[in-house]
Amino acid sequence: MNTTQALLEVRDLTVDYDLGGAAAWRRRTTTVLQGVGFTIAPGETYGLVGESGSGKSTTGRAVLRLADVTGGSIRFDGTDLATFGRETPLSYRRDVQAVFQDPAASLNPRHRVGRAVTDALRRHGVRGQRVREERAAEAFEQVGLQRAHLDRYPAEMSGGQLQRVAIARALVLRPRLVVCDEAVSALDLSTQSQIINLLADLQAQTGVSYLFIAHDLGVVRHISDRIGVLRRGVLVEEGTTHEIFTAPRHPYTRALLAASPASQPAGREERRARRLAVRAAAA
Ligand SMILES: Nc1ncnc2c1ncn2[C@@H]1O[C@H](COP(=O)(O)OP(=O)(O)OP(=O)(O)O)[C@@H](O)[C@H]1O
Ligand SMILES: [Mg+2]
Repeated sequence: MNTTQALLEVRDLTVDYDLGGAAAWRRRTTTVLQGVGFTIAPGETYGLVGESGSGKSTTGRAVLRLADVTGGSIRFDGTDLATFGRETPLSYRRDVQAVFQDPAASLNPRHRVGRAVTDALRRHGVRGQRVREERAAEAFEQVGLQRAHLDRYPAEMSGGQLQRVAIARALVLRPRLVVCDEAVSALDLSTQSQIINLLADLQAQTGVSYLFIAHDLGVVRHISDRIGVLRRGVLVEEGTTHEIFTAPRHPYTRALLAASPASQPAGREERRARRLAVRAAAA
């Protein structure tokens, strides 16, 4: 692959939802995404933010081929997804994985969690139960779980541990892009930062790209290289994380910044106190 080429290229993406209506002449649709465009380079994290209902999940679902696209195009490694037809090829389902907000919802409560990983490997053609179990154990260790956790049931694990299982299941397939849709939003603050650090470490090891979706700018700050701001289905601003936090151009971005306690720049007093603390520590 040409390294200057985007891994994911979304162009002029439009998605309409059908609101029903029995007869064709009564059918009503609503536009939830309008002309959305962005790219994600190999190894890059693109943060997508916006308030509830702005179309973030719809964007992720379109990339995962879970939402029907009305217009525009999505290219992955140069291939237009529209050329796939109805059935998504197995290779794309391996290359593009997802981690959602509620890991328990995607795990069978009656299966030991290790099975979620071995089943994923089996679906993708990895032969031999022993081989699959060994790879699952390695994946668990990679995400900071222990081998013994493979035999647990979902109800026996914490939210943070379950999210590690979901990450292990996604990463074990060695994907090139992971759509993380509010992947840390349900976790407490310290678990959030642990999971974000884990995702960043895994990216450094594997070169995977992330489409990292969250409604809170503070959450995406520490993992994103660039950030796109979605408002009512339109991408109103895009920039590097530094640009978005230090020189937001759109009033909506400024409003989002103001609404996120974790993302506010420290006040003068706080900065002074921090400088003094640093100096005291150095003395
Ligand atoms: N299946 C559907 N049919 C009709 N409308 C839908 C459907 N799914 C989502 N919508 C609408 O599309 C819009 C965008 O929804 P989406 O889930 O993408 O927002 P979001 O930015 O992810 O919000 P949140 O932060 O709450 O997760 C919303 O107005 C929503 O009501
Ligand atoms: Mg959503």
